[in-house]
Amino acid sequence: MNARQWVFGLLATAVAVPVLASETKVSLFDRPVQKIEDLPDDHYGRLVRYGHELTTRTFAHIGPEVKDKKMRFAGNNLACASCHQDNATKPFAMPWTGVTAAFPQYRGREDDLSTVEDRVNGCMQRSMSGKALPFESREMKAYVTYIHFLSRGIPVGAEIEGAATKRARAPNRRADLAAGEAVYVAQCAACHGANGEGVRVGVKGDAQGYVFPPLWGADSFNDGAGMNRLLMAYRYILHNMPQGTSHLNPTLSVDEAYDVAAYMVSKPRPHKKHLDRDFPARWNKPIDASFPPYVHGATPDQHKYGPFPPLLEKAKQLEAEYKAKQAVK
Ligand code: HEC
Ligand code: HEC
Repeated sequence: MNARQWVFGLLATAVAVPVLASETKVSLFDRPVQKIEDLPDDHYGRLVRYGHELTTRTFAHIGPEVKDKKMRFAGNNLACASCHQDNATKPFAMPWTGVTAAFPQYRGREDDLSTVEDRVNGCMQRSMSGKALPFESREMKAYVTYIHFLSRGIPVGAEIEGAATKRARAPNRRADLAAGEAVYVAQCAACHGANGEGVRVGVKGDAQGYVFPPLWGADSFNDGAGMNRLLMAYRYILHNMPQGTSHLNPTLSVDEAYDVAAYMVSKPRPHKKHLDRDFPARWNKPIDASFPPYVHGATPDQHKYGPFPPLLEKAKQLEAEYKAKQAVK
């Protein structure tokens, strides 16, 4: 490297530093939750309020039981807030706070750059087992505006403490479904029902949703949902269930959460068509996604129920091979 190149390199670094993501850290734990009541009754305020309503009472506006058939976008009677707890503000329950600052974002599932709208439709087609909302619909605008409202004040690219789900090391063994069933009966069935069917507010067909949402069966999330992957469900359950649990006071042990999550994902649920088209760049397919192809000859059973640490090793090899091939091009 000659002197000029060296100086150029130095300058390039200096210019790049201020936009590095890790520059700004935001914690969702000491951040006051934004108050909808304080918003004026203008266009923005009204759309935020509708977005909030769509989040907590999804079933009443775009669910499969609403009167206007054209509005039946969701395929089940869950609410977004069935998973995204506390109106999608609870840390480590996939909060939407800061999502506006984190998108557009590369997503392996599509092997493409994904916008906030794409991400909303990701959950519409999987978690809600339904159809994509048109980008120009009032409902899509309301979701994006509500997410924007929750994210106000968080700089683009900030590192957010409390985002997504909290990492937890999974036991290095195949999950034990019989042990999971025992945990389910003791810790979950009182609310979610003996058959995971949940407890409705009213009666079938009334579009009023659930007091306790279903965990499996025809009215739950489909098999393409993030919650249907064992490691994702395990982290969510460990830090958020039974209701009232947070990452500060887990109720279940690591083993109990792992096994009960496996019991839940072993149960029948709606099937997402063309699942095998997810993660077109196979090197970054999550190790707990149990559709083909499988890393270096692992079985579907191992992708679904573990043990995961050996799969992680294999996935790292796959990534290294992919990157080596890219370098040759
Ligand atoms: C069955 C549980 C479930 C339901 C119901 C659900 N989601 Fe999600 N959502 C998830 C999970 C799990 C993730 C994160 C993991 C992943 O898929 O990568 C997520 C992620 C998201 C994200 C990105 C968050 C981030 O930190 O990047 C958005 C935005 C989102 N969901 C919107 C919605 C909307 C809008 C609805 C309702 C129409 C909804 N979700 C319903 C489980 C759910
Ligand atoms: C006291 C009642 C209660 C108990 C006990 C409980 N849950 Fe939940 N669960 C809820 C409620 C209510 C929600 C909806 C989110 C909210 O309002 O907090 C929920 C949401 C969920 C969700 C996401 C939504 C869905 O339909 O998939 C999962 C997964 C879940 N619970 C799993 C479990 C598991 C596993 C256990 C047992 C370890 C459990 N829950 C115990 C009340 C409960």
